[in-house]
Amino acid sequence: MFEKLKARWKVNTLNLVLVIATFALGGSLCGYAGRKLLLLTGLEKGALWITLYIILVTLLWPVCVLLISIPLGQFRFFKNYIIKISNKMTGRKAKKKDDLTRVAIFASGAGSNAEKIIGELENGQVSLIVCNKTGAGVIAIAAEHHIPVLMIEKERFFSGDHYLPELKDHKIDFIVLAGFLWKVPEPLIKAFPKKIINIHPALLPKYGGTGMYGSKVHAAVIAGGEKDSGISIHYVDELYDHGEIIFQASCKIEEGDTAESLAKKIHALEHAHYPAVINNLLEKQNHS
Ligand code: GAR
Repeated sequence: MFEKLKARWKVNTLNLVLVIATFALGGSLCGYAGRKLLLLTGLEKGALWITLYIILVTLLWPVCVLLISIPLGQFRFFKNYIIKISNKMTGRKAKKKDDLTRVAIFASGAGSNAEKIIGELENGQVSLIVCNKTGAGVIAIAAEHHIPVLMIEKERFFSGDHYLPELKDHKIDFIVLAGFLWKVPEPLIKAFPKKIINIHPALLPKYGGTGMYGSKVHAAVIAGGEKDSGISIHYVDELYDHGEIIFQASCKIEEGDTAESLAKKIHALEHAHYPAVINNLLEKQNHS
């Protein structure tokens, strides 16, 4: 039963526990608040009391559940859940899965950014994870969220068909690089004009280019005596870390910071901004 719920709601085990806890706590809060409000009316328990209780509980339930979902980190799930229920009740058509811009995330690392992006976008909108490294953390994250993984190999990516048929099969409209270290081949860029973006863990144009990834970037920034570092989200073009910049955010480098401590600050910035920037871009695309 739990496996079915995980697949249906596209959540991992931890989020399933938090979703169930939100249902339970939200429901209890709603029942409690409903009874307290009815006490104020001074009504005796009877048919009218029960009718009013049912009405109150129905109106209060979404508010209570949304309130509880905030500290449990499930606000997005419940916002979508409540929209779905109200669409069903009013007969309004929900956005069909086919209407959504379908996203592929290319990643070959731990996948912490991929996980945040999956959580931010609509259920099922991240339709494919593309990976070039067996055993990469992102593969387990994809499995937890029931997202298919396409494992790619160098030869076909660079000089074969660039996996365009698979991207077409999955109806991919937009590509997000999140810790993907191979250069994107030109035919792929041409097939997705202004529809491939990347995040780089430094303030471009400095500290980018060949060989600049992960902790190497942070070590170079510290060795360069910089006072600030940050993140750059940019469109992907034929050169490494070069395309038009969409968004940057920065953080201070304190005395004593190491590549590891700076990496933590940068990851926090990435998680705070990358999913939201992607969401904004996709919304703009939908309206253009
Ligand atoms: C991120 O910090 C990303 O900026 C970096 O790889 C990390 C992946 O982390 N990308 C580059 O260095 C690209 N030049 P994650 O796997 O935990 O998302």
